[in-house]
Amino acid sequence: MASLSGKVALVTGAASGIGTATADLLEATGAEVWRADVVPSVDLRLDVTEAAHWSAAVDRIMEASGRLDILVNAAGIAAGGGPASVEAVSIDHWRRVFAVNVEGTLLGCQQALRVMGRPAPGSIVNIASTAATAPSQALGAYGASKAAVVQLTRSVAAAAALAGLPIRCNCVQPGMADTPMTADMDPFYRQAWIAQIPAGRFAEPVEIARAILFLASEESAYVNGVSLPVDGGLLHRPVIAASRSDS
Ligand SMILES: NC(=O)c1ccc[n+]([C@@H]2O[C@H](COP(=O)([O-])OP(=O)(O)OC[C@H]3O[C@@H](n4cnc5c(N)ncnc54)[C@H](O)[C@@H]3O)[C@@H](O)[C@H]2O)c1
Repeated sequence: MASLSGKVALVTGAASGIGTATADLLEATGAEVWRADVVPSVDLRLDVTEAAHWSAAVDRIMEASGRLDILVNAAGIAAGGGPASVEAVSIDHWRRVFAVNVEGTLLGCQQALRVMGRPAPGSIVNIASTAATAPSQALGAYGASKAAVVQLTRSVAAAAALAGLPIRCNCVQPGMADTPMTADMDPFYRQAWIAQIPAGRFAEPVEIARAILFLASEESAYVNGVSLPVDGGLLHRPVIAASRSDS
């Protein structure tokens, strides 16, 4: 993997899980990393749903570091309070999940389009989910919000290209990863998930971060507008999980 030396990166949701693993990996690869989150234990206090927070954070980075080359929109929530099923989800829950996962990602992409691409090409990496593709009756708002992130990613890539900006925008679709987001999962459902995953386990956060690093770096210079599953084969598992011994 090429060095990210001289690059400046902003990672949201950096206080936990995939965001922390990504910030650590980008830093280990040579980037100067700004860690942002809604909790205080980071470089930048940034609620991704607040447009004013975004412009203040990006202005601060531009003043201090003079450039922004990489944005990883890793902040996200799965639960918005109360029941999450399609039948019972409240409109408040739905709006909260969309506010963080979709509007938060949109606001970040808008800021990236404002400042990125000079003096070097920029790269935005959004975090969708396999839930964007595979339906889940238990996570109606979450799945719909992540499908919106996939399409927003394509739109941002297209907008940058039409504006002649050297900014790529891609997303990853993690499957199940061992982070605080999944830590409280009922063991029954955890086992049910594992039974569906060809890799036979949940991902370590760094395994998602490695794919994000690829999309963030110039190693993926010819990759734009895609959504990359990082899911242990979950989305492409065999439909029939059995084979005859004589075939
Ligand atoms: N863990 C999984 O299995 C999994 C699977 C697919 C996708 N994802 C996605 O990966 C991303 C990271 O998830 P994770 O598993 O590391 O979760 P996590 O809960 O460990 O971390 C999420 C981080 O986002 C921050 N955050 C929440 N709301 C915010 C806001 N309004 N502004 C700024 N920061 C905010 C939280 O404080 C937390 O630090 C999310 O977008 C999630 O939807 C996770």
